[in-house]
Amino acid sequence: MISNSQSESGISFVGCGSATPPKIINNDQLGQRVDTNDEWIKSRTGIRERRVIGENQSLIDLASDAALKAIKMANWDEKTIDLIILATSTPEDLFGSAPKIQSNLGASNAVAFDLTAACSGFLFALVTASQYLASGSMKRAVVIGADQLSKWVDWDDRKTCVLFGDGAGAVAVEANKNDNGLIGYDLKSDGSRGGCLNLSQSNIFLDLVQGATYQKGEYLPIRMEGKEVYKFAVKEVPIILGELLDKHQIESESIDWLLLHQANQRILDAVASRFLIPSDKVLSNLEHYGNTSAATIPLMLDEAVRDERIKSGDLIACSGFGAGLSWGAALFYWHGPY
Ligand code: UT7
Repeated sequence: MISNSQSESGISFVGCGSATPPKIINNDQLGQRVDTNDEWIKSRTGIRERRVIGENQSLIDLASDAALKAIKMANWDEKTIDLIILATSTPEDLFGSAPKIQSNLGASNAVAFDLTAACSGFLFALVTASQYLASGSMKRAVVIGADQLSKWVDWDDRKTCVLFGDGAGAVAVEANKNDNGLIGYDLKSDGSRGGCLNLSQSNIFLDLVQGATYQKGEYLPIRMEGKEVYKFAVKEVPIILGELLDKHQIESESIDWLLLHQANQRILDAVASRFLIPSDKVLSNLEHYGNTSAATIPLMLDEAVRDERIKSGDLIACSGFGAGLSWGAALFYWHGPY
């Protein structure tokens, strides 16, 4: 477990951006491929459609686009960026996709690396970036959550294929001694329960030379025990969020927005009802994008900032959860220009 003790993080949220592919696949279209239908998907998940990256576009394009918009909102010169973290489980290059984004942005003074924590990835990356900023070693960071789960979904498995989509979101955060933008956070992992949601390598060994084999680099499609993950989310998210609110002596009535990983509307509703948060304070756009893994939180944040639901000074209670198992929560004030 990792958590901070005080409101001394000294970072400000000053920009956000997002990007999604143009190709929309709706529930009826999926019903033409697998034995499912719009009614089942909508009532069990809240999802109506999702976006899928097609030819002539890439995850790096989306992530770069989202990051550029965040930098523009923050009004930063890209040369002043110190750090770029790309939270993703679906990199284009297993050696890391963040450096290519750094190059696309022209952020030649930034160090860039990938971080993998599945659907909790954005939150884990945000907290990681905040450590560099709070320590004083860096001043400006871009944190991106981007995933292309469409390439790892088994499109013939109705239990998973209806849930996921592709997208990217980003935030620009900077060190600010006079601001306590990130009030607090808590991150957790439990590998003993990791078997209920995996994108595992295949176990294929081929002959190398006489007496030796090598493992072929290949991954199996996403496999999920949906009910187990559902139970995990509705149990652990209220606990971690409740403990964080208690620790910082914040009443749930003070929360302006509940911003959860967009996996299932029923999970969002269950967590909101546990804290008596009215539905108009629960941010939700999974209807249009499905579960975009590390992208859901910044994608939702960006939408709500740009349509002026979220205003400067609003308090946001955020939680991400997913494979690992991993989960986390953060309380922060939005201080962007909108
Ligand atoms: O980002 C990582 C976090 N992931 C999550 O948070 C996912 C959490 N889990 C869930 O959101 C839900 O468990 C699901 C949406 C995945 C499934 O909903 P459920 O209410 O738990 O359904 P279920 O798996 O218990 O399935 C109920 C029935 C089954 O049929 P039988 O066995 O009762 O005859 C399934 O075969 O629904 C069937 N089913 C479907 N039917 C039509 C499963 N998927 C589909 C489908 N269309 N797409």
